[in-house]
Amino acid sequence: MDLKNFKLTSPSDFTIGILGGGQLGKMIAMECRKLGINVVCLDPKENAPASLVCKQITGKLNDKEKIIELNNQVDIITYEIEHIDTEILKEVLPEDKVYPSIQILEIIQDKYQQRCFFKKNNIPVPEFFELNSPDDIKKYIPCVQKTKKGGYDGRGVIVVKSEKDLDKVLTEDSYIESFVDIEKELATIVVRNIKGNIKVYPIVEMIFNPEGNLLDYLLVPADIDEKLHKLAQEISISAVESLDGVGVFGVELFLTKKGEILLNEVAPRVHNSGHHTIEACETSQFEQLVRVLTNLPLGSTYQYIPAALINLLGEKGYKGKPFYENLDKVLTIDGVYVHIYGKKETFPFRKMGHITILDRDRNLLVEKTKVIKSLIKVKGEVKI
Ligand SMILES: Nc1ncnc2c1ncn2[C@@H]1O[C@H](COP(=O)(O)OP(=O)(O)OP(=O)(O)O)[C@@H](O)[C@H]1O
Ligand SMILES: [Mg+2]
Repeated sequence: MDLKNFKLTSPSDFTIGILGGGQLGKMIAMECRKLGINVVCLDPKENAPASLVCKQITGKLNDKEKIIELNNQVDIITYEIEHIDTEILKEVLPEDKVYPSIQILEIIQDKYQQRCFFKKNNIPVPEFFELNSPDDIKKYIPCVQKTKKGGYDGRGVIVVKSEKDLDKVLTEDSYIESFVDIEKELATIVVRNIKGNIKVYPIVEMIFNPEGNLLDYLLVPADIDEKLHKLAQEISISAVESLDGVGVFGVELFLTKKGEILLNEVAPRVHNSGHHTIEACETSQFEQLVRVLTNLPLGSTYQYIPAALINLLGEKGYKGKPFYENLDKVLTIDGVYVHIYGKKETFPFRKMGHITILDRDRNLLVEKTKVIKSLIKVKGEVKI
């Protein structure tokens, strides 16, 4: 597909394919629908969330025949998860039909390779080291051990603060990073199209619950000074430019206690830290992706109003058919936008939905967010 010279005039004759049909796929498909574009997703689980709004092919993401079936039905392909076998994609898909490119996916899938790539391109990253034997970890304490491939949502990452933690070390192919003294964890979304036009959103701040260090909620714009805000945006843009990325990219950053901004990692897809853009910004991250894939001009990333976002995670102690407790109470509050992904089963910590909260007054925004967080619970039919 010659994306550079493509002009969308007949959306109903255009079809976007998505590898994966989870919540990200669903929200991408919803934006396609808004523009009258067709969508087909490939997902291993029948009735995946995206199937609520688009056609689904049911099959594994490494099933060549299913990928070929998807390819035959669509004009262009994107993906909503990184863990896909790139060798298979290279074998069965035309290079100019997948965005972001398969080469980018390869760099990003391997966290060690990703670190090397960004370091080589002068993007500030935490110090990191190759690990030849698990015994070598001692030398680097305090440090963080990360598996090169396959990690997500914190799996495949362990912090080794003292020798006591050495019994936790990971046995998979991994590397070491210096332990960064983090002041704040930040993130943003960068969008870049085939012409090289680029847009970045305001910086998001993750607020962690001091007990258990679990993500509590996201707050945008981040509570950091303007200079740091700009620097974080510049580093994010440079990272995506160095990849020659075409698509939407979630960029995770650290603000260190010394006041430096370091790149943590880049996801070559729409990202959890950009969900608020649906209600809070002129153009959502999902619409931007659709615009990139159809060679339409990128939209403004202007944010109208401060926003917070909480993930609706499956409660501990429950599984099976989900129940959303206090949905009615939450919806009596103004400026609250509930998204339920439509997953048929819950389990502890599974992402079942999210809520965006808007308020002009940041203090009220935080207060409202805390109230909502304490009210809403995703429980399941079966106690475990
Ligand atoms: N070098 C480091 N120093 C200190 N803390 C770190 C370091 N690297 C990672 N962390 C912490 O571990 C978390 C997870 O790390 P990372 O983002 O690499 O893993 P992940 O599995 O991709 O997680 P997720 O899917 O949640 O983004 C970070 O958000 C941060 O809190
Ligand atoms: Mg991460």
